[in-house]
Amino acid sequence: NQGALWVSAADGRIKGWDWQAHDDARFAELMTRNGWVDIDVDVDGQGSKTKVKIVTASEEKNEFFFPGFIDTHIHAPQYPNAGLFGSSTLLGWLETYTFPVESGFGNQPDPKTGYQQQTKAGETPLAAQTIYDQVISRTLSHGTTCASYFATIHIPATNALATLCKKHGQRAFIGRVCMDNPDFCPKYYRDFSAEDSLTATKATIAHIQSIDPTGSLINPILTPRFAPSCTRPALESLGALAASYSPPLHIQTHIAENTNEVTLVNDLFPEAGSYAAVYDRYNLLTPRTILAHAVHLSKDEKALIAKRDAKISHCPASNSALGSGIAPVRSFLDVGITVGLGTDVSGGYSPSILEAARQTCLASRLLGHTAAFEMEFECGHSHVKGEDEKQKQKEREDEAARVKLSVPESLYLATRGGAAVVDMADEIGGFDLGMLWDVQLVQLGAVKGLPESPLDDGEGDRVDLVRPGPVGNVDLFGTETWEEKVEKWLWNGDDRNVKAVWVAGRLVHSRV
Ligand code: GUN
Ligand code: FE
Repeated sequence: NQGALWVSAADGRIKGWDWQAHDDARFAELMTRNGWVDIDVDVDGQGSKTKVKIVTASEEKNEFFFPGFIDTHIHAPQYPNAGLFGSSTLLGWLETYTFPVESGFGNQPDPKTGYQQQTKAGETPLAAQTIYDQVISRTLSHGTTCASYFATIHIPATNALATLCKKHGQRAFIGRVCMDNPDFCPKYYRDFSAEDSLTATKATIAHIQSIDPTGSLINPILTPRFAPSCTRPALESLGALAASYSPPLHIQTHIAENTNEVTLVNDLFPEAGSYAAVYDRYNLLTPRTILAHAVHLSKDEKALIAKRDAKISHCPASNSALGSGIAPVRSFLDVGITVGLGTDVSGGYSPSILEAARQTCLASRLLGHTAAFEMEFECGHSHVKGEDEKQKQKEREDEAARVKLSVPESLYLATRGGAAVVDMADEIGGFDLGMLWDVQLVQLGAVKGLPESPLDDGEGDRVDLVRPGPVGNVDLFGTETWEEKVEKWLWNGDDRNVKAVWVAGRLVHSRV
């Protein structure tokens, strides 16, 4: 495959390309739309050239460009807890692990009131700066070119996250979490009132818009943490604030992650009728809304979400880690809901969207073995008792196979899907002409390049049990088709395979 590709250093967009499209039918959908090509890149990362020519690479290098990953749901301040969750489930986990770590991003609580003085500008604990710096570097190193971040309730730290994303060059949506419900949020970590919550949110929006007035890289996103953490007035004011902008502001929250949480929401908002309906009442279900998890939605809720064109962030690593359940992604796609992937650090243990894509495949393969699947199948099944059991079993198996997500589908959700979730489907997630060069260069191992065994005594009679390839964990044997290389990457790849990362044509990470 020969090819060349031009990215304008002026605006970081793809200006022209000329390559032989990969023509394998199975990958046609992913590749012709996602357009990955095996060509090398010669971008200097300095933006000094007006036009950068990207020259052909050899297939032997086992390198290919892939659209940068889009993490549609990640909690930046929870990064210190990545991998720490014990056997907890959502509500206990929030209390034990999450609120304590997030509260550390503000100042000490006022001894008199017990509330954090979080509305003062200019005070960010050093640890918060360091952690935010780390999480941005780490996600970039995994190929995440765009992330939708939940921050904390604190204005200075949230502003610092936005400023750091800009400095690193990572495309980002930054949300100050709103949590003003005294019946749910701990006193040491909550907004003083709905009014305070709105004022603080506006302050972070003002900062973000001051550092990136055109929103070319960093954008605000309204972030009612989830229904239980917010009072009605807070939800109402956020819905109104979103709608007051043109185009409306982005919104992100959680929905139906855990069965106890769903029960809690039904108790707290009995008038709404469902979890999704709570958000809808306050105009928070919009085409620019990202709903994380969506493990336990009813059929009606899915229909409502589809009708409003709200988006879903699928977070399978988190859903398994916290024992939340398996989100029925195929059923979202069936009704036309747009889906992207999220790491949900630190409900999710890994900052890698490749891991999220892998877990997407795995979780979908387990779905057919769940009670929820069985119920759904029985509901939609026309057969009556006594009818051909064999036929019914066959249909059950077919349905279990149908809900599985393939490698190309998972990678699609990680790129094109995520792009649509953040309402940037025309800008990022693929290699269409005019799209932004938000790209990772992936390099896989090659058997030819295996290093000499350090234990080799020169006589050839010492053999290591494991001789790692030169690049990461993906060993190739020279027999793989490109499709198989990508499959191996999905199942065994990690950040060692991410050789370089660009956002809008700017080099933002490179492996040394
Ligand atoms: N629901 C409310 N807050 C959170 C959070 O921080 N993480 C997850 N996974 N779910 C939540
Ligand atoms: Fe989350």
